[in-house]
Amino acid sequence: MRVILFSGKGGVGKTTVSASTAYRLSSLGYKTIVVSLDPAHSLADAFDIPEEERVRAKGLPIRVKDGLYIQEIDIQEEVDRYWGDVYRFLELLFNTTGLDEVVSEELAILPGMEEVTSLLYVNKYYREKQFDVLVLDLPPTGESLRFVSMPTVLKWYMKKIFHVERTILRVARPVARRLTDVPLPDDEYFKALENFYERLKGVDEILIDPEITSVRLVANPEKMVLKESQRAFMYFNLFGVNVDAVIVNKVLPPLVGECGHFSKWFLTQQKYLEDMQSLFYPVPLFKVPLLEDEVVGEERLKILSDLIYGDADPIRVFHKEKPYEFIEEDGRFVIKLKAPFLTKEGLTVLKSEGEIVVRWRNFKSHIMLPRKLRNYEPAGARIEGNYLKVFLSKA
Ligand SMILES: Nc1ncnc2c1ncn2[C@@H]1O[C@H](COP(=O)(O)OP(=O)(O)O)[C@@H](O)[C@H]1O
Ligand SMILES: [Mg+2]
Repeated sequence: MRVILFSGKGGVGKTTVSASTAYRLSSLGYKTIVVSLDPAHSLADAFDIPEEERVRAKGLPIRVKDGLYIQEIDIQEEVDRYWGDVYRFLELLFNTTGLDEVVSEELAILPGMEEVTSLLYVNKYYREKQFDVLVLDLPPTGESLRFVSMPTVLKWYMKKIFHVERTILRVARPVARRLTDVPLPDDEYFKALENFYERLKGVDEILIDPEITSVRLVANPEKMVLKESQRAFMYFNLFGVNVDAVIVNKVLPPLVGECGHFSKWFLTQQKYLEDMQSLFYPVPLFKVPLLEDEVVGEERLKILSDLIYGDADPIRVFHKEKPYEFIEEDGRFVIKLKAPFLTKEGLTVLKSEGEIVVRWRNFKSHIMLPRKLRNYEPAGARIEGNYLKVFLSKA
């Protein structure tokens, strides 16, 4: 099974692009389900599903046609159905230290119910093997990031808790409480927690396997959207989730853009389109024009899917391999960037507005620094095989 996630700022077209992608996939014969976490529930709107049908579904899958299902998750239903208690316990767990330092600083945010629920669904559908593809329409960026960071946090915790046998724990609870810095669950929580862990187990491996999971960032060529997409790009990278495409949606077509009222918009978009090549290097950009009207109903979803993918099959992995990594080497933080073509001549590395900028001839790459490394600067670089290593030191 493939898992394709769409992430991006609110309003850029995530739900529409998710729906179009799912439409194309099912037309190609893949059994497809598209799941949305958007509380605004616009997925059913994109497919023009009648209100009473969506109400009847209560957050469970709705069949659009053969091989195509949509599901708008209803968080309240999920909590009632499954696991209010577990979530309250998790809240306690997440106030933690001890994760890998770079990662933990990025985790100041508590994962929400939506993220946990969608992870459970990713695992459920993956295990059941009913579908060939799961398309996930994530909520706006902030929450998407909590979504990918979830498994890392959980894994760390679960390891700490579950390495002790449950029975031993019951006997030794008073001692264990004193010996570990981990809050231990009461018995009533334990069963629920174990069950929850069982249902979540392995989801991190699904998410970081580039053959299974791809993130496609949806963006518009505008400053504010770009900044957010760049941050998302950095996070997904940091958590090892493969970003295989950036979908640049709502690009003004030249005929609209060059005349009259929109000519300034057109120029602004062109400038950002150019920047995006280096901001997301080497991930491919898919440019999608702004259509003459909103995208509702299968016919328009089909038109949009043709514009997004051309002849390409959306199930493909369009790009694989981390564009860059933050590693630690001899006590120093290092950015390791894949760039097989670089030579020393004319190479410059500098810091600008929280980013490391690498320039070489026409090539330019921007790497946003995680919060933890904000105060670091490049202090030398070295080409090693196909990689450029940029050594960082505190400013
Ligand atoms: N390429 C496009 N051309 C015209 N309208 C679009 C396009 N992409 C999205 N839209 C419209 O923009 C609005 C917001 O899209 P939506 O997918 O709901 O955004 P998001 O899920 O990111 O918040 C919808 O009315 C949708 O029909
Ligand atoms: Mg949406």
